[in-house]
Amino acid sequence: MDATDPDRVVIFDTTLRDGEQSPGISLNTGEKLEIAHQLARLGVDVIEAGFPITSPGDFEAVQAIAREVPGPVIAGLARTHVQDIDAAYNAVRDAARARIHTFISTSDIHITHQLQTTREDVKGQARAAVAHARQYVDDVEFSPMDATRAELEFTAEVVCIAIEEGATTINIPDTVGYTMPQEFIAYLGRLYDLVPGLRDVVLSVHCHDDLGLAVANSFSGVMAGCRQVECAVNGIGERAGNASLEEVVMLFRVREDAHGLTTAVNSREIARTSRMISRLTGYAVQPNKAVVGRNAFAHESGIHQDGVLKERTTYEIMDATEVGLESNSIVLGKHSGRHALRDALEQLGFKVEGNALNAAFKRFKEVADRKKQVTALDLEAIVSDEMRERADAHELAWFEVEAGSRREPLARVAVKMPSGEEAVGESSGDGPVDAIFHAIQKASGTECELRQYTVEAVTEGEDALGQVTVMLRTAGRLATGQGVATDILEASARAYVRALSNALEGAAIREAEAATAEAAVERTPGP
Ligand code: KIV
Ligand code: ZN
Repeated sequence: MDATDPDRVVIFDTTLRDGEQSPGISLNTGEKLEIAHQLARLGVDVIEAGFPITSPGDFEAVQAIAREVPGPVIAGLARTHVQDIDAAYNAVRDAARARIHTFISTSDIHITHQLQTTREDVKGQARAAVAHARQYVDDVEFSPMDATRAELEFTAEVVCIAIEEGATTINIPDTVGYTMPQEFIAYLGRLYDLVPGLRDVVLSVHCHDDLGLAVANSFSGVMAGCRQVECAVNGIGERAGNASLEEVVMLFRVREDAHGLTTAVNSREIARTSRMISRLTGYAVQPNKAVVGRNAFAHESGIHQDGVLKERTTYEIMDATEVGLESNSIVLGKHSGRHALRDALEQLGFKVEGNALNAAFKRFKEVADRKKQVTALDLEAIVSDEMRERADAHELAWFEVEAGSRREPLARVAVKMPSGEEAVGESSGDGPVDAIFHAIQKASGTECELRQYTVEAVTEGEDALGQVTVMLRTAGRLATGQGVATDILEASARAYVRALSNALEGAAIREAEAATAEAAVERTPGP
């Protein structure tokens, strides 16, 4: 597919930046890399890998993605401050194709209350930021934040300045999900009239879903002439989230007859990408979610079932196989060996060798002993779960639980601490899961507040693997953790220990960053 084709829409994925800003999501560099590799396999054009100035962890992840993920353009976000742009450049500079994305608000609400500055200053900051970024890279994106609530004429002035200074993409954000499809078309049409130079750059849209209109508004943007859409897998992002990548992509694919537009995304990778994002972020996909929800291709009423059995297209506008939901033929059992496992994992896109293969094989055997058939979905869940184990984190060592309807449940849990020592805790509770969670708190010596607990089956059937997601708050940090096992008590314990570990790790990083910043202030000589 030709990227200069006027009918080709650029897919800019912001799962790792705006998506990661959702409460409770705490991805480490390894997880971000895993997601970035999958996004490249999915075929997105641009990966916005993070906001490098915000923390050393974010910087490190963006840099690792820029160095290791071939294919898409790798973008780093920056405010208009020089330090932000320098950090973004240093993080993305090793990418084969690097982009700096800089933004400043043009709405009076933001200028007055948040930035506490003037329109003149905003113009100056936009000019200086784009010029500075262009000294580093040829590919610079500029966003007038909260543009849809800003005075259009002022936004147009700022956009003109950004283009004069060499911005190559102008992105119009509907930051708070306020606009409506018809209004947005008119807005962008008028912007084209006011800024003739807009025809020489790529116009982009970035829509939030506060009124459930993110995809509709993004589509309006494209109808008005935009050729880049910013979106996130499963629609994650600030507040109600961003336009959902899978919905945007399938809208282009399914209705190409009507609009003639295409993307470079390999739609068969959509389901797997959605599962990976859901697992690693702890954000479950609602069952009736368009394209990737569990029920998106399920037919309940007799009339619908009858129709689909006779002819699929009676009640389906897309084929499940097109989004990668076809039942994969991989089936392993307890007699399958290491080679069979490695081949199956390779078919699923996991390159697992050496110690990682040994660990995956051990885990596979444990599951295969309890479950007759291990399918592709099971393998994907087990391997992703195994890949989350880290030597320096808290880990579930073992647990015992006594429970019944006529006695108070009692749990004993051993947690392997980051130091390598095993700590044991014992507790009763309102049920076996609650008893386990309290025993983990005792073992680790950490008090936590449970915020969310969900259990899902990985596949259908009585012996399905259970997948548990826990969101908790401890040490002032909200964090999620996931666990997969044939037994939901074990999956719950794993998920809880991981969430706790993620929260403590996040808190420790924040403390270290605060100490570094304080030391830097102390070292800075006074005026
Ligand atoms: O929503 C927004 O305005 C953003 C910008 C940084 C593009 O995320
Ligand atoms: Zn946003």
